[in-house]
Amino acid sequence: MAKTKARYVCCDCGFSSAGWLGRCPSCGAWESFKEESVTPQSQTKSILGKSQKPSLGQAMTLASVPAESTIRLRTGLGELDRVLGGGLTPGAVILLAGEPGVGKSTLLLQAAATTAKEGGKLLYVTGEESAAQVRLRAERLGLDTSLLWVLPETSLPDIEREIINGDWNIWVVDSIQTLQWPELGSPAGSPGQIRECAARLIGLAKTKGTPLWLVGHITKEGHIAGPKLLEHLVDTVLYFEGERDRPLRLLRSLKNRFGSVNETGVFEMTGAGLGEVVNPSAFFLAERPKGAPGSVVTPVMEGHRPLLMEIQALVSFSPLAMPRRQTLGVDHTRIGLLAAVLEKKVRLKLFDRDIFVNVTGGAKIGEPAADLAVAAAIASSMLDRPLPPDLVVVGEVGLAGEVRRVGRLRDRLAEAARLGFSRAAVPLGEATGLTGLKMKIDGVGSVGQFLSRHLDFHGGRRDDGDGHD
Ligand code: TYD
Ligand code: MG
Repeated sequence: MAKTKARYVCCDCGFSSAGWLGRCPSCGAWESFKEESVTPQSQTKSILGKSQKPSLGQAMTLASVPAESTIRLRTGLGELDRVLGGGLTPGAVILLAGEPGVGKSTLLLQAAATTAKEGGKLLYVTGEESAAQVRLRAERLGLDTSLLWVLPETSLPDIEREIINGDWNIWVVDSIQTLQWPELGSPAGSPGQIRECAARLIGLAKTKGTPLWLVGHITKEGHIAGPKLLEHLVDTVLYFEGERDRPLRLLRSLKNRFGSVNETGVFEMTGAGLGEVVNPSAFFLAERPKGAPGSVVTPVMEGHRPLLMEIQALVSFSPLAMPRRQTLGVDHTRIGLLAAVLEKKVRLKLFDRDIFVNVTGGAKIGEPAADLAVAAAIASSMLDRPLPPDLVVVGEVGLAGEVRRVGRLRDRLAEAARLGFSRAAVPLGEATGLTGLKMKIDGVGSVGQFLSRHLDFHGGRRDDGDGHD
């Protein structure tokens, strides 16, 4: 009998140590270490006895390397295929990660049904829900249950037997955290089990050339041994995001060996499953109150795609000694900075005001290109003056109040023009050369210039500042 040793493994990144650590030295996560027993023989070995490494041989020029088949198996869901780079390649392993309840199982079941309809044979291994539950969901979604194959199982040897013996075109394992390799002894979901089970399944996918979906749960606290452990093992990592009480779902690609990263698919969770949002800009602007102070539309890049989003600000008198700065969908610290710029550079008195800023529709904006729009929304609410409803605003704001260049401006404005916006406030440095767009372009050099032109605000009194400029 081999001696069993204990070691401690970080659930987030897989770093292992002989002793327990409060903080992971590799990824910085707190209290993420779990004990795991290691039997030397049980270390990962593919059951087919083949390693995943390419066979060693002679050196060759890249041109003489046989090209991989570029045939892609479409899932039938346009948004999903686009994020995947056109569909699934043979033997590709895709990790679909997301918080519980976001809709991972729903997405894959819908994709399974469209694959099956087109003649593909897909095996859905469910370790989380019973076969009856999956059937019930499929029926609710109106899918053809006679074409869907399901295997309710968590024991990896049994799953391996089924997938080796069947002539499946695609495998789905929902979820990797429920699988167990009996020899390991540790419970399902522990880092060792996740790594072992994933490595074995990946080995099979590569050997048989069958695309494999792995579902992985993440929690906000990151307590469950997570997809982070698997990220470097798989070919593609997709994150499915969204708030439970809102319909918007975003599918982002974080890593893709077979396509471009930074792709985003937009879905909407409805009573009848996930619907593709083919016109996301229109979706985000659907409920926009036209002519309301504090509402500004800005074109944001979601990966390679420009999307129009509405930013709303509400500025009100604060009874608190420390006025609130609350945000939803935009970086909180950015609001403090923009408020300071507005206060100092254009003398908009915000120090005794609460400021609330939201991105509507449950979206998140992570790029500074939205700065000018956020500043415009705050100023518009503060002054109680609306901006023209056909205006889009884009530009980064520097600490001196200057409006700086942003990437892909032409694409952003083209999307705005497509949705009927006829005016755009853009960074002055980029305003020239934007020909051919059916829009009136206004190049603005500073926040002050923007406020004076579009909100008719020409700066507060000079004597109420701090006297330093
Ligand atoms: P699910 O796919 O089970 O999430 P995950 O696999 O990521 O844990 O989705 C569960 C949630 O989706 C659940 O809260 C109910 C909701 N839902 C709908 O709103 N409409 C539907 O048609 C379905 C099937 C689920
Ligand atoms: Mg699920």
